[in-house]
Amino acid sequence: MFQPSLYKKRRDLLRSMINGGIVLLPGNTEAAMNYAANTYHFRQDSTFLYFFGINQPDLAAVIDLDNGQDYLFGNDVDMDDIIWMGPQPTMKERGELVGVSNTRPFNQLQSLIDDAIALGRRIHFLPPYRGKNTLLVSKLLGIDPGHVNSYKSEDLIRAVVALREIKDEGEIADIESMIDVAYDMHTTAMKMAKHGVVEREIAGMVEGIALQKANGVSFPVILSINGQTLHNHYHGNTLKEGRMMVCDCGAESEMNYCSDITRTVPVGGRFSQRQRDIYEIVLAANTKAIEAIKPGILYKDIHLLAAQTIAQGMKDLGLMKGDVNQAVAAGAHALFFPHGLGHMMGLDVHDMENLGENYVGYDNEISRSDQFGLAFLRLGKRLREGFVLTVEPGCYFIPALIDQWNQQKLHTSFINYDKLETWKDFGGIRLEDDVLVTAAGYRVLGRAIPKTVQEVEATMNI
Ligand code: GLY
Ligand code: MN
Repeated sequence: MFQPSLYKKRRDLLRSMINGGIVLLPGNTEAAMNYAANTYHFRQDSTFLYFFGINQPDLAAVIDLDNGQDYLFGNDVDMDDIIWMGPQPTMKERGELVGVSNTRPFNQLQSLIDDAIALGRRIHFLPPYRGKNTLLVSKLLGIDPGHVNSYKSEDLIRAVVALREIKDEGEIADIESMIDVAYDMHTTAMKMAKHGVVEREIAGMVEGIALQKANGVSFPVILSINGQTLHNHYHGNTLKEGRMMVCDCGAESEMNYCSDITRTVPVGGRFSQRQRDIYEIVLAANTKAIEAIKPGILYKDIHLLAAQTIAQGMKDLGLMKGDVNQAVAAGAHALFFPHGLGHMMGLDVHDMENLGENYVGYDNEISRSDQFGLAFLRLGKRLREGFVLTVEPGCYFIPALIDQWNQQKLHTSFINYDKLETWKDFGGIRLEDDVLVTAAGYRVLGRAIPKTVQEVEATMNI
């Protein structure tokens, strides 16, 4: 955990950004997998972690915006708990770790909320994303569960985004340590990617490294020779020479900061000419996009730069035709690159996505496009020093999408459907790095993970 003074500083900054009332921040509870006592891996709410740092279930916090007080609600363990879980810190001790002296039993939260309601004070809360917290907010505030989200505080959302989107040195160091874990995950996957190996053998090893060296994975491992399916969590295929293997994975730290890296490698360790052709296009899109990162530039423009690089590459291969700028403006490239270039990253792998993607990635100046492909860009707004984001262009041959566009005669002036027929068995390639926006431009975070054709082949053939 960070020093108690940092958590207090963050809460004081929040107080300076919102006008009056109280902030209600429920932490997460355990979530049952198949019966109450058999739970999923516990994951604390990230905004709760940001302001109160305690990685335990069954807590809630209140930040009073008017009197400067912070409150933590939760129960001390009893003997039954100690028998099953071992000795636990008291609520008072937990509070001290994050600079909070007002610790109270959980059942006193309702009376604090009732007092605020009686005084007509504003109660700010974030949109809950778990059923139990929707029900908690519903009960505390007397709102119908189906309408809780309509009462979310946009002032609070905007203030939380403004604070969490700028990472400090401690946060960056923690994120970088998770990219170093991702280095081991990816180089291990590269070395294991041999003909005849089953995907789950590699996916299990990769996840094991995240558990050995960190707090587990930051999201379920995506690892597949069918990389044309963007989020492929099926790990039952046997690797075959001639296929590319996409591995998109990262680790999460004890404090829950994340990494998110993608590498794509040829099964067996040698790129064929066709694989190399597409790989170099995606690599160029990745490196050009990274090199364009600096404060003040719209990430949407960097997304479009990556799209142009991919469209130009596809044109050079004869798979697209016509004017590249016009093709990208029309959205024709999205047949091959149907997702966004990247997203914010921090305490969540898609940072703050639970608050609403448009609050995080867009603002008054720039709103989300509704064009296929560009519409999936999670981050479009101007970059600021201290942002940590992913750069993850990809190029995919999705047979069902190719067939649909062909039948609908979409973008026939930009796409050579005839030539594409022989590429429908290719799969997909994605390359992803985690990048810090600095005053001077950018810094690719963490240990450099093999990425060029030469680096990948050298790693796979040690
Ligand atoms: N790495 C998975 C994603 O960004 O969605
Ligand atoms: Mn990502």
